[in-house]
Amino acid sequence: MDSESKTSTGHVTRKTVLRAALAAGMAAPAVLMGVPALARTLSGSEAALDLTPECDDGDDLTVPQMEGPYFKPNSPLRSALKDGPGTPLTVSGYVFGRACRPVSGVLLDFWQADANGAYDNTGFKFRGHQFTGADGSFKLTTIVPGLYPGRTRHLHVKVQAPGRPILTTQLYFPNEPRNNTDSIFDPRLLMTVRDAGGGREAAFDFVIDVPQNPGPTPTATPTTAPPGGTWTAGRSYAAGDRVTYGGVGYVCLQAHTAMAGWEPPNVPALWRIG
Ligand SMILES: [Fe+2]
Repeated sequence: MDSESKTSTGHVTRKTVLRAALAAGMAAPAVLMGVPALARTLSGSEAALDLTPECDDGDDLTVPQMEGPYFKPNSPLRSALKDGPGTPLTVSGYVFGRACRPVSGVLLDFWQADANGAYDNTGFKFRGHQFTGADGSFKLTTIVPGLYPGRTRHLHVKVQAPGRPILTTQLYFPNEPRNNTDSIFDPRLLMTVRDAGGGREAAFDFVIDVPQNPGPTPTATPTTAPPGGTWTAGRSYAAGDRVTYGGVGYVCLQAHTAMAGWEPPNVPALWRIG
């Protein structure tokens, strides 16, 4: 189903969020605007495949899947897992919260089989963790995992926003014959994949259980400028401090020093509209 077609529910839609982000003067509207375009350009068959959760009403979180027997804690911090031969693969995307806003600082811990379908259970080959950037994006550079008995082709990942529960799940490749016989396979976890430069480029957006304010909208914008001045990167704020950002008033929820990328609409853990 097209993520932008489901507008009759009255819930917040991706378009609405994007418009709100633009109205609020968020730092990365170009990145946000690129998200649906990315999903479209990478998929030649999205009409037939329910590719990713619809980030429109908070009800469609990325589904969990079993961890399996090969997870190991303490993977190295790295986004490139080129630990052996194989077809180059990149996986890129965004992590969104319940209100379809990108979440920064999210831990993504990937593990996978090598090209022969074997996991490294003594070392950390094809294992690594990374964090989403300020715009909620991530990129994994690796190889296409090999097949092993009983399973279709897949990647494993754990996704965790700071202070939130861990989402353990798996990502799948379209047009794999074993997708039809693997009882664990879930089409909601299919990546969009295309051939590129002798390798594969995949995309997947996660939607995780992070409560978020849907953000300011033109009809729900407090207009009274509270005391405290305009939100400013580099300034220290205490719980209860009030600022304005993008014409909207916010109340600080916990003491912190503001940073670029932590604009109030981006960090519901730090600011609420008020
Ligand atoms: Fe596996």
